[in-house]
Amino acid sequence: MTASVEQKIEGLRAEIRRHEHLYYVLDRPEISDAEYDSLINDLRLLEAAHPDRITPDSPTQRVGGRPAEGFRKVEHSRSMLSLDNAYSAEELADWDRRVRELAGLLPVDYTAELKLDGLSLALQYQPDQTGGAVLTTGVTRGDGQVGEDVTTNVRTIRSVPLSISADKLKELGLPPALEVRGECIMPRVAFERLNEERERDGLAPAVNPRNAAAGTLRTLEPSVVANRRLVFYAYFLLVNGEYWSGGQQETLRLLSELGFRVNPYRECMDSVAGMTEFIAKAESDRASLGYEIDGVVFKVNDQTTQQRLGYTGRAPRWAIAYKFTAQAAITVLEGVEITVGRTGKLTPTALLRPVFVGGVTVSRATLHNADFIERLGLLIGDSVKVERGGDVIPKVVEVVEDEAHPRGTSPIIFPTICPTCDNPVVREEGEVDWRCVNADCPARLRETLLHFGSRGVMNIEGLGEAAVDALVQKGLVSSVADLYILSQEQLLSLEKQVTRKDKTTGQPATTLQPFFGPVSAEKLLKQIESSKSAGLARILMGLGIRHVGERTAEELAVEFGDIHELEKAAPERLEQVADVGPEISRSIVDFFSLPANHALVERLEAAGVAMKAEKRERTSQLVGLTFVLTGSLPALTRDEAKAMIEGAGGSVTGSVSKKTSYVVVGEEAGSKLTKARDLGIPILDEAGLIELIQQKAAES
Ligand code: IVH
Repeated sequence: MTASVEQKIEGLRAEIRRHEHLYYVLDRPEISDAEYDSLINDLRLLEAAHPDRITPDSPTQRVGGRPAEGFRKVEHSRSMLSLDNAYSAEELADWDRRVRELAGLLPVDYTAELKLDGLSLALQYQPDQTGGAVLTTGVTRGDGQVGEDVTTNVRTIRSVPLSISADKLKELGLPPALEVRGECIMPRVAFERLNEERERDGLAPAVNPRNAAAGTLRTLEPSVVANRRLVFYAYFLLVNGEYWSGGQQETLRLLSELGFRVNPYRECMDSVAGMTEFIAKAESDRASLGYEIDGVVFKVNDQTTQQRLGYTGRAPRWAIAYKFTAQAAITVLEGVEITVGRTGKLTPTALLRPVFVGGVTVSRATLHNADFIERLGLLIGDSVKVERGGDVIPKVVEVVEDEAHPRGTSPIIFPTICPTCDNPVVREEGEVDWRCVNADCPARLRETLLHFGSRGVMNIEGLGEAAVDALVQKGLVSSVADLYILSQEQLLSLEKQVTRKDKTTGQPATTLQPFFGPVSAEKLLKQIESSKSAGLARILMGLGIRHVGERTAEELAVEFGDIHELEKAAPERLEQVADVGPEISRSIVDFFSLPANHALVERLEAAGVAMKAEKRERTSQLVGLTFVLTGSLPALTRDEAKAMIEGAGGSVTGSVSKKTSYVVVGEEAGSKLTKARDLGIPILDEAGLIELIQQKAAES
């Protein structure tokens, strides 16, 4: 290998690392995502041509490779400490006094940090040949003594440096044998996105970002982890296997210099008054932070005092956590509203006398389902305790009963008919939810239209709540198929109420105004028109078949290619599709067995909505070919290989069958390879796949 290639590889890596640091740690990107992707791509191509130069700390190694079997148990170098807690200003004052006694009764300087609600991780770095340090192992806390090796997944977290240069270590006077501990969190936006996806896939939502982050780190597919956008904030350091007690400000400075993300929300203070001020500020900022916190942590800044205080078996004596108590308030349940969702599910919502909890006024809270109401024994008029925990959504947690809070009077009667369409509601055996099964129910229609038009489904911009309400109220749309016969005149005939201050009287006056102008009407019609070619997978999602989310819809589209094939499919045939088990197959069969649904498909098709897999698949190079990927490929991640195949018109499925055209194998390929051999299906490695694509491209 020539020096210039080596230099080029190292140069690219250095540049990419600089941009990753700017983006993920300093939050100050200098280049666009596309430019970043292109740098990564250049590096990947160079590395593919020189696989012997791939190092574990190369930025390309963030995604890829699969952890062997589950997760190996790893003993911590030193036990993973926790924190002692204080719940009041008095307890903080006691702690401050103890600390000052050891510091010679002088005021002590503290750093206040947020107590991040995630899971703690230990990242071990070891020397490499150049005198720098490389990330060797990432371990969860476990029981504090033994955790799980989640290295492969930790590598995908962009705010975790994969290596630290020898120069940097020298500059800071640190050896390469380091361990950095901190908190791994899932930001709120990532959590919300995850739950949207889970809902689309018919899965139960994750309860809170902490559980979601923990679950993500224990996922066996690193590319999934990479997509979840976890963030690591560093706060503690071990040097040569020993706790480092150099003072908290200095610890944070070193961690930041080493390339770690350090939470900027922090302050220094030297009194209990300063601490309580910080607590109040953090509590009021809590709801607007991009992530969950459950308290604040105070840590001693002075090195000598830290060292004098030292550690107990479970926690540093130089730190204390002040945990927020769940914010709660007592109010009155004034009523219950029942709403009907897209699937017909009836959801009860508590209508509360407005009450101020944790910085916001709460007047509604979810009651989940009829069982929940029964368990609480709720009556309308009851005094109830409402809590707003870290997860922002208010909850009714209990009925309060004492002299000041007499019991309510009227029972909550869960309806036996749908509150919107008056048809009987049903509750299937083993299910907690009551459902309206009338497909024409207006409430279901509203939710169905919103789902149909949403991003990720048919993607009809402009079909928001207000537009849907206007269309439904005017009776212009009674099924998603009606969207395709809307005319411009009809849209222009829709009206909305607008309340404005009257210029002369100063009083609010309500007038009716057109909902759409000619431009916005035209725009919506264009959006509807272009949704016709969204493709089979999108339409399958749009139909709202229970349990058929994005992934399943895509698998079904690839496997069947045409909705009429799917309509005819027997359960056994459906269950041959990856991801489809008895529950999903039953739901698909049930859906198509209803004449109304069959008619809907016909109407959509007559309106010109594509009910076949996208054209692209039939006109380009790998058309009609089905691939299965197994094992880890040397240069491409699974997602990249999939994108390459699909980009060339081929399809990728999860399981090997007689219909599979090629199986692409990497390292540690398992039973799929054996099955491919048994069935005599051609086997390719990564290079073979790239060659095949190039060859087909040349032919076409
Ligand atoms: S310091 C010696 N700082 O809270 C270091 N912990 O309840 C001990 N935590 O196990 C931890 N934010 O997982 C520290 N800013 C912060 C923190 C923090 C969250 C977690 C950590 C710890 C738990 C103790």
